Amino acid sequence: MKVTVVCCVLVVLGALPFSSDAQLDPSFYRDTCPKVHSIVREVVRNVSKSDPRMLASLIRLHFHDCFVQGCDASILLNNTATIESEQQAFPNNNSIRGLDVVNQIKTAVENACPGVVSCADILALAAEISSVLGHGPDWKVPLGRRDSLTANRTLANQNLPAPFFNLTQLKDAFAVQGLNTTDLVALSGAHTIGRAQCRFFVDRLYNFSSTGNPDPTLNTTYLQTLSAICPNGGPGTNLTNFDPTTPDTVDSNYYSNLQVNKGLLQSDQELFSTTGADTIAIVNSFSSNQTLFFENFKASMIKMGNIGVLTGSQGEIRQQCNFINGNSAGLATLATKESSDGMVSSI
Ligand code: HEM
Ligand SMILES: *[C@@H]1O[C@H](CO)[C@@H](O)[C@H](O)[C@H]1NC(C)=O
Ligand SMILES: *[C@@H]1O[C@H](CO)[C@@H](O)[C@H](O)[C@H]1NC(C)=O
Ligand SMILES: *[C@@H]1O[C@H](CO)[C@@H](O)[C@H](O)[C@H]1NC(C)=O
Ligand SMILES: *[C@@H]1O[C@H](CO)[C@@H](O)[C@H](O)[C@H]1NC(C)=O
Ligand SMILES: *[C@@H]1O[C@H](CO)[C@@H](O)[C@H](O)[C@H]1NC(C)=O
Ligand SMILES: *[C@@H]1O[C@H](CO)[C@@H](O)[C@H](O)[C@H]1NC(C)=O
Ligand SMILES: *[C@@H]1O[C@H](CO)[C@@H](O)[C@H](O)[C@H]1NC(C)=O
Ligand SMILES: *[C@@H]1O[C@H](CO)[C@@H](O)[C@H](O)[C@H]1NC(C)=O
Ligand SMILES: *[C@@H]1O[C@H](CO)[C@@H](O)[C@H](O)[C@H]1NC(C)=O
Ligand SMILES: *[C@@H]1O[C@H](CO)[C@@H](O)[C@H](O)[C@H]1NC(C)=O
Repeated sequence: MKVTVVCCVLVVLGALPFSSDAQLDPSFYRDTCPKVHSIVREVVRNVSKSDPRMLASLIRLHFHDCFVQGCDASILLNNTATIESEQQAFPNNNSIRGLDVVNQIKTAVENACPGVVSCADILALAAEISSVLGHGPDWKVPLGRRDSLTANRTLANQNLPAPFFNLTQLKDAFAVQGLNTTDLVALSGAHTIGRAQCRFFVDRLYNFSSTGNPDPTLNTTYLQTLSAICPNGGPGTNLTNFDPTTPDTVDSNYYSNLQVNKGLLQSDQELFSTTGADTIAIVNSFSSNQTLFFENFKASMIKMGNIGVLTGSQGEIRQQCNFINGNSAGLATLATKESSDGMVSSI
């Protein structure tokens, strides 16, 4: 009896989170929504003209979706009577951006192909398109994800890696998702674009690990630059570029920055400055060969995009990305919002 129970638990645990043989297919919408890629691209391109940072924000949104219950758009669900939104988890609160852009994309996609394309697939497509618009690599995005009926803020707090993690903790957080050390280094390369708030790295400038001193692995020139942007005891909301050289371009400069101790977050610099680490050689190889970085980035983004996906009849195709279907409170909020905006409801 006991043996049976243990076996079942193992089987369930083994099958649930990272079925890498998930039934996703880049041509999933070939007959039902052939233009989905170009529709998503049009909206992202348009928005990024006035807000170049949005490319980074959309890539991050896909990552923060996938690490919590899999790539199921759980991050998009708002608070309701039954949903405790992941948007207020510590790594997300006052930090994630682009929820409104995802809704804009969803409206455009619904106009062309009502009830067909999941919000989780929109996040995966928006991430790839953002890479391309940032002059980074393209890839065929496997599609056919479905949207969750649940969200889990506790799990978001547990699974999303923190900027003060050391290499061991980073590797562990990725291993939980079925991602290895190469994936960790390649995906961290997403920090080649975007911005970070001072509060996520200010301890490195003034009082690292309660030593009363700066992080010794932080370049002293860069320390001066960052200290000017992030005063000691300030509110911590000032922004700075992840990549001081090419802030909005997807390239391998993230890795060459690490080689001169200009990683912005502790979690970035750990990849190069941890004594004897196996990540150093990977950083060096990506720094010297951008093609190699792009190949690995593509492969790891696809691998991340497969985490815990819902397919077939699992979950649903949400009508509105912020609410599960049939949530009258959510739909009422939406109707009010859209009519006051003078917009046509997509429902
Ligand atoms: C390895 C562990 C990681 C940690 C600790 C981490 C942490 C962070 C933090 C603290 C920020 C700044 C947020 C803010 O200031 O509001 C950030 C931004 C960002 N992260 Fe990560 N991240 C990690 C991995 C990743 C991965 C795997 C991706 C995507 C593949 C990613 C993509 C981004 C992007 C593009 C931004 C900029 C977002 C924007 O400007 O809106 N990060 N990350
Ligand atoms: C592009 O953005 C402008 C405002 O910045 C908006 O008026 C226009 O409708 C948008 N076009 C598309 C296709 O989203
Ligand atoms: C969902 O919550 C976000 C804040 O987390 C808010 O900006 C957005 O307006 C909400 N969406 C709807 C449709 O209520
Ligand atoms: C999220 O941030 C708001 C401030 O914008 C704060 O009032 C709230 O307590 C935070 N939520 C959590 C769960 O920390
Ligand atoms: C949410 O995640 C936590 C932490 O892993 C877990 O203990 C809990 O059962 C999850 N809640 C739901 C409703 O799935
Ligand atoms: C990383 O942090 C964990 C938790 O604080 C600690 O147990 C571990 O020893 C650290 N590892 C290294 C290599 O510093
Ligand atoms: C990580 O996994 C990929 C396949 O997904 C494999 O090609 C690569 O060699 C692995 N890297 C390490 C360090 O195990
Ligand atoms: C550094 O932080 C520790 C713990 O938060 C604190 O006790 C110490 O006073 C701080 N040192 C300085 C110089 O601010
Ligand atoms: C950062 O924020 C402080 C207030 O905390 C402000 O005085 C300063 O001008 C800001 N610096 C930059 C470069 O944005
Ligand atoms: C710090 O950065 C400068 C370039 O700004 C570089 O010349 C120097 O070698 C770096 N120092 C270290 C210790 O990496
Ligand atoms: C860079 O990496 C690519 C892809 O793996 C490889 O084909 C190429 O030979 C490498 N270039 C150099 C100069 O090593």
